[in-house]
Amino acid sequence: METRITSDSRLFSGVSIGEVELENRLAVAPMTRVSATHEGLATEDMVAYYESFARGGFGLIITEGIYPDEAHGQGYWNQPGLANDEQVESWRRVTEAVHEQGAKIFAQLMHAGALVQGNRFTEGTIGPSAVPPKGKKMEMYGGSGDFNLPEELGHEGISEVIRSFTAAALRAREAGFDGVEIHGANGYLLDQFLTDYTNRRTDEYGGPVENRVRLSAEVAEAVRQAVGRDFPVGMRVSQAKVNDPDHAWAGGESDAAVVFGRLSEAGLDYIHVTEPTITEPAFGDGPTLAALARRYGGGVSVIANGSLHDPRDAESTVREEADVAALGKSALANMDWPNRVRDEHPLEDFDPQVLESLRRL
Ligand SMILES: Cc1cc2nc3c(=O)[nH]c(=O)nc-3n(C[C@H](O)[C@H](O)[C@H](O)COP(=O)(O)O)c2cc1C
Repeated sequence: METRITSDSRLFSGVSIGEVELENRLAVAPMTRVSATHEGLATEDMVAYYESFARGGFGLIITEGIYPDEAHGQGYWNQPGLANDEQVESWRRVTEAVHEQGAKIFAQLMHAGALVQGNRFTEGTIGPSAVPPKGKKMEMYGGSGDFNLPEELGHEGISEVIRSFTAAALRAREAGFDGVEIHGANGYLLDQFLTDYTNRRTDEYGGPVENRVRLSAEVAEAVRQAVGRDFPVGMRVSQAKVNDPDHAWAGGESDAAVVFGRLSEAGLDYIHVTEPTITEPAFGDGPTLAALARRYGGGVSVIANGSLHDPRDAESTVREEADVAALGKSALANMDWPNRVRDEHPLEDFDPQVLESLRRL
């Protein structure tokens, strides 16, 4: 591992994701901040927030999870949407401000599924099966108590979910985003399908992992078809969930082979893997999840995230296992992380207090 990171380091070399060229290999990880208006519009404060990362040298910014429809997709009060024209309009200011600083911005499209704690369109929740979600609603996002019991999605409902994602991806392109990231991770709807204990279905979407990954793959295929070849489409994948941080795939590496193999065939430009610490083995010992995404992902680009605060870890990750390193908490503590590291200035530690300032609630 290199001990010194300089402007010649791999982190600062350009890279393409699909047709889009990034100035460097440093991305801001998606981070919910519940600071939109009640109607899900991006605000001037959000323009300034995203612009700061671009000004700070990040080549790519992945937005907070954005809800895709005016139905079951929204998970949090004051979460922004890409579900109607007004919301598209509000995001234009964000994408323009980021572009003016020379960075690229992808919209993360997130369907909450059963993990809803604020939805202004409907009371009921949906999921692969009527299984009570683990854990409690998150106070950080203004929730408390148990999650509702979701209603099992029928085939028509599944088609509607796919249409939600494709329509939102088209709106993202219209709003000036450079690509979309489908949220297939962290316990939300697509991950609920992937997860053995939340998916008890007996149809082609349930049972073996080949079936449980089907909806993610179908969403990826449909979005790719809708937006065309030149607009990057990625998917985020994780083992851990916001409501079950220690979850691991029961089949270990063979599950990873199926998940990454099937997703790579779906026409994605990248797979974004996230783990609490992405430099650690994914299953007890052996390769990391990023290395497995590379091994089984058929050549699609890999974005890696999870405890890459130390520039040496970020650098070794983009040298050995991934194309891009995404930073979450460390980017909040250092909105200019790339510029600081390049200029050999010290980094600030993450202070959880900073999360308070992100909220509007
Ligand atoms: C405040 C906060 C909000 C987050 N919101 C999202 C989100 O909307 N979508 C998502 O995929 N991950 C979300 N995450 C997870 C981060 O993208 C990232 O995976 C996590 O912070 C670990 O990376 P880090 O060690 O670099 O912080 C969030 C994390 C934080 C701290």
